[in-house]
Amino acid sequence: MQETKIAILGYGGIARAHMNGYNILKKKGAPIRVVALCDADDTQFEKDIKINVDTGAQEEEKSWRTYTDLDEMLAKEEIDTVDICVPTYLHKEYTVRLLRAGKNVQCEKPMALTAADCAEMIATARECSKHLMVGQCLRFCGHYLALKAELDSGKHGKVMTARFERLSPLPTWGFDNWFVDFARSGGEMLDMSIHDYDMARFLFGEPEKVSAVTCDREIHEQTSNGRLYYKDGLIVTVDGSWAESKTFPFSCPFRVVCEKATIAWNGCDKVRVYPNEGEAYDLDYENEDYMAEEALFFAKVTQGEVKNEKNPPESAMQTVALIEKLKESAACGGAILGY
Ligand SMILES: NC(=O)c1ccc[n+]([C@@H]2O[C@H](COP(=O)([O-])OP(=O)(O)OC[C@H]3O[C@@H](n4cnc5c(N)ncnc54)[C@H](O)[C@@H]3O)[C@@H](O)[C@H]2O)c1
Repeated sequence: MQETKIAILGYGGIARAHMNGYNILKKKGAPIRVVALCDADDTQFEKDIKINVDTGAQEEEKSWRTYTDLDEMLAKEEIDTVDICVPTYLHKEYTVRLLRAGKNVQCEKPMALTAADCAEMIATARECSKHLMVGQCLRFCGHYLALKAELDSGKHGKVMTARFERLSPLPTWGFDNWFVDFARSGGEMLDMSIHDYDMARFLFGEPEKVSAVTCDREIHEQTSNGRLYYKDGLIVTVDGSWAESKTFPFSCPFRVVCEKATIAWNGCDKVRVYPNEGEAYDLDYENEDYMAEEALFFAKVTQGEVKNEKNPPESAMQTVALIEKLKESAACGGAILGY
């Protein structure tokens, strides 16, 4: 594989987790190198930013130059891929601009505020013959991949119900407090529970009907509870909250009930199988850094080594469309809507 030169646009909370992933890849000798960081606020480059998940960030030897002006960075640096980590309301604008500048783009989730914006991003990537991938990072996370392999094996029988939770205090680390502005973040369901709705689609495909209720506190749609109803009777429930107390630890457990076993993860340890017959046991799997896995996969996609069937942008757009439908249900008091 040839070397892939990366620039990160927006060096805030999640960019630290991306940087940690790139550092892991560097240590493993993968030909992927961060050459530049760009952030509108130059104080961000040196800040210690804590977010609701462990970013694993450590002090590393710097292989990059820093910029506050995107055009200057594009003029001075040789860049293959821009890793977009700016706030959600800027995803479409910068994705379109960078694709048009001839760069491949990895853009953080949610892909954009609306499915219509996502469609424009995809159309631009096609028009410019560049690669675009959205950071639906759970598709690269060992715990969820272990669950998928277990379900796909069929050995536990039909899946009856599944429940995913994602619970956090209100995120307050963001640039200009953008998370708590519904117009810029889209609220909890679009910003955070999107991980679980995307995972539900990755594991189980498209539901037939959906419903959701949301709760407003400091911001509109600060908590959400959604249901996906499948043709074969499976019901998936997603519980998302940005309303936990300030000291409540971020947590994201799941529980999948099959005919012959319950498969559960407490959000920390290994995924565990509780069969109807016999003793409970942990699944045996590697849990590599998922940001590193995501970046390595995209580098292979951009170099034509693999086709992106695992996380295509069309699927990320469909998850945004699913959230739009859930929001429509919430606006009707939780009505069950065809999807
Ligand atoms: N994958 C995940 O689990 C995960 C977790 C957290 C956040 N995210 C997503 O990542 C994105 C960024 O979130 P964050 O937590 O890092 O936010 P953040 O506010 O901490 O970081 C955003 C950065 O972008 C910079 N910025 C703002 N406008 C800019 C501009 N016009 N040009 C250049 N830089 C600009 C800000 O200065 C800031 O450093 C969001 O879309 C968020 O939903 C994903």
